[in-house]
Amino acid sequence: KKRIGILTSGGDCPGLNATIRGVAKALYQRMGEDVQIVGITNGYSGLINGQWREMEPEEFSGILTMGGTILGTKRTPFKLMRVIGEDQVDKVAAMKKNYEEMKLDCLLCLGGNGTHKTANLLAQEGLNVIGLPKTIDNDIYGTDVTFGFHTAVDIATEVIDRIHTTASSHRRCMVVELMGNKAGWLTLYAGVAGGADIILIPEMPYNIDNVCAAVERRASQGKTFSILAVAEGAFDNEEARMKKKERAARRKEQGYTTATNRIAAQIEKMTGFETRVCVPGHMQRGGSPSAYDRVLATQFGTYAAKLVEHEKYGVTVAMRNNHVTENPLEEIAGKSRLVPDGHGMLEVARRMGISLG
Ligand code: F6P
Repeated sequence: KKRIGILTSGGDCPGLNATIRGVAKALYQRMGEDVQIVGITNGYSGLINGQWREMEPEEFSGILTMGGTILGTKRTPFKLMRVIGEDQVDKVAAMKKNYEEMKLDCLLCLGGNGTHKTANLLAQEGLNVIGLPKTIDNDIYGTDVTFGFHTAVDIATEVIDRIHTTASSHRRCMVVELMGNKAGWLTLYAGVAGGADIILIPEMPYNIDNVCAAVERRASQGKTFSILAVAEGAFDNEEARMKKKERAARRKEQGYTTATNRIAAQIEKMTGFETRVCVPGHMQRGGSPSAYDRVLATQFGTYAAKLVEHEKYGVTVAMRNNHVTENPLEEIAGKSRLVPDGHGMLEVARRMGISLG
């Protein structure tokens, strides 16, 4: 029997179970009894600590629509992988030992940028590894899209939709803080889909005077409210030269915890508009995957099964120009994909009169 290990690592997102199911069903279709799937619990932490079980085909039924991950997940920072800490555990050696003990032919790692760095490390250590790109942030290098992203866009869009009625009733400015870590994809797409008036993303440091001018311009056109879609990682032009920690320290000094709190306070002070912040937070990662993500997860999962069949390792699945393909892990690990200057969606936003700060 071929023994295929599978783990999910990093923050969860909708579509993980759909992808696991896609891999499993496609493997059973082609290999039937000749394949044994081994589920590793809680990401790389489970691989380090030897938490795994042989899975039955029934476990992959009924999970297409389920959010989260049936395997459990955990963040195990890459920078700690080579560090032998208080626990005295050589994590890389432990992962290799458990891989051997499970008698795996290969290991499938579903995750984001951090997961891919560790997947590449394991491949360099001689393990047969295949990656699958998940994240609501859509920031994995070499793929046009990651599963989880479009479901998060749908959720964030619904938030902005609902914020419209309360903003207009109260004649307020509403600042909606969206996830995305260092990338602005989720905010940009949800902002356009939800009809936000101002979109602020980390790739384009904002100037608070421009933000307030956009609010006032709308007011002068008779618009009684404004909606801002602001990425959690957004920062202003003065913070552009600073490191993340310095930015946080500067905000703290000014009496704020987040960029959105500060933006709201500045808008109130500079325009006189009553302003509120809305943080949908982890709701953006919860619940059932959208139809788009179910299809993408199934495409990615079946492609990974094909890679297993052909024993093509050291790669991660990707979508490029509407074709499912793969990238060498060593070419994408350690990189990320931010919204590039001049991206078409920025142009769309500008043409729609949306202020980008
Ligand atoms: O990477 C997904 C993500 O949701 C980011 O958008 C966000 O910055 C981060 O994870 C939050 O991490 P945690 O769930 O560990 O708080």
